[in-house]
Amino acid sequence: MTQDDENELLAQARAVRENAYAPYSGYAVGAALRGATGMVYVGCNVENAAFPEGTCAEAGALAAMIAAGETRLTAVGVVGGDTRPAAPCGGCRQKLVEFGAGEVPVAIAALDGTIERTTLAELLPGAFGPSHLGVADR
Ligand code: THU
Repeated sequence: MTQDDENELLAQARAVRENAYAPYSGYAVGAALRGATGMVYVGCNVENAAFPEGTCAEAGALAAMIAAGETRLTAVGVVGGDTRPAAPCGGCRQKLVEFGAGEVPVAIAALDGTIERTTLAELLPGAFGPSHLGVADR
């Protein structure tokens, strides 16, 4: 992604991270997705007293994208961690791959500005996806 794109996604992820509901872990995360139309969708983690019911920032952003009628993402930004950038959990890697090609860039930033840059394919090599079920990308 371009530097401008990365800057915008990480700025939006950092902003929505402020709304994270993470009283149990104390670990707030924000995510911003660029959809194929150019729109940006954001989400934050939402924890729950029944711990397994919590949801990740990436899942929230994906839900916003789908709710808006978009099904393809072109870039991902995540902000979490003080000095060590967060890492999308395994479940979120699978969720992201459902809607993005392997080459989709992913930038993950810590609060101190440290940035790790990767792709969906690097995050989930050999992913099981829609094509395994004979379903074309939407
Ligand atoms: N979390 C996310 O929302 N996204 C990530 O990329 C890593 C982890 C959340 C889940 C949980 O609310 C908290 O961070 C600690 O695991």
